[in-house]
Amino acid sequence: MAEKQQSSYPKAPATNGYTRSDAEAAHDARDQRKKKRTKCLLYIVLFAIFQAAVIAIFAVTIMKVRTPRFRVRSATFENFNVGTPAAPAFSARMNAELGVKNANFGRYKYRNTTVVFMYRGTPVGQAVLKNSRVNWRATKKIDVAVDLSLGNAAANSQLGSDLSAGIVPITSQARMTGRVELVFIMKKNKATEMNCNMEIVTATRQLRNIVCK
Ligand SMILES: *[C@@H]1O[C@H](CO)[C@@H](O)[C@H](O)[C@H]1NC(C)=O
Repeated sequence: MAEKQQSSYPKAPATNGYTRSDAEAAHDARDQRKKKRTKCLLYIVLFAIFQAAVIAIFAVTIMKVRTPRFRVRSATFENFNVGTPAAPAFSARMNAELGVKNANFGRYKYRNTTVVFMYRGTPVGQAVLKNSRVNWRATKKIDVAVDLSLGNAAANSQLGSDLSAGIVPITSQARMTGRVELVFIMKKNKATEMNCNMEIVTATRQLRNIVCK
């Protein structure tokens, strides 16, 4: 029992044969190298998976191209003119604040854009926006002055009743075209439509109920 213990115990000092201990050491080293290689391979695989996940997240968040939102935000009026019940008419200068909301992780460059204002399907005024850009994840506010003149719409029999009700419904429409620049290099064409309904309250000369699709 004591002998057995003695023979198996002293390994490193190796009084009982260097050769066997050398072979064992070499085997151990090979084993260790193999383990290291396996570990290294595992790390590479894990890193590849991690990288794929990062790229996937990148693709669905940062690299995703979102449609900018283009709308009428608010407006005030001046030179307000409502006709008489006998001769219904309406004209005003509308100082409108438009907004282009860019939710992309890259700026949006848009081209010249015309916004048409309509009264029950008849164009009654327009605003022209010069080409510009919206910073990434920002809203650009654009002030425009629009001369609304419902002279074209005078033939519309509803104008009299709208004016006596004190509410003039207006819609605004536009198609804005431009490009989203993602990460400064990837450029993608993106157009956005404005399609808003709103009401001018003649008594208070205010714009209310702006609803944009
Ligand atoms: C955009 O409008 C400006 C004037 O507001 C004009 O000088 C320019 O040529 C227009 N650009 C295009 C591409 O039509």
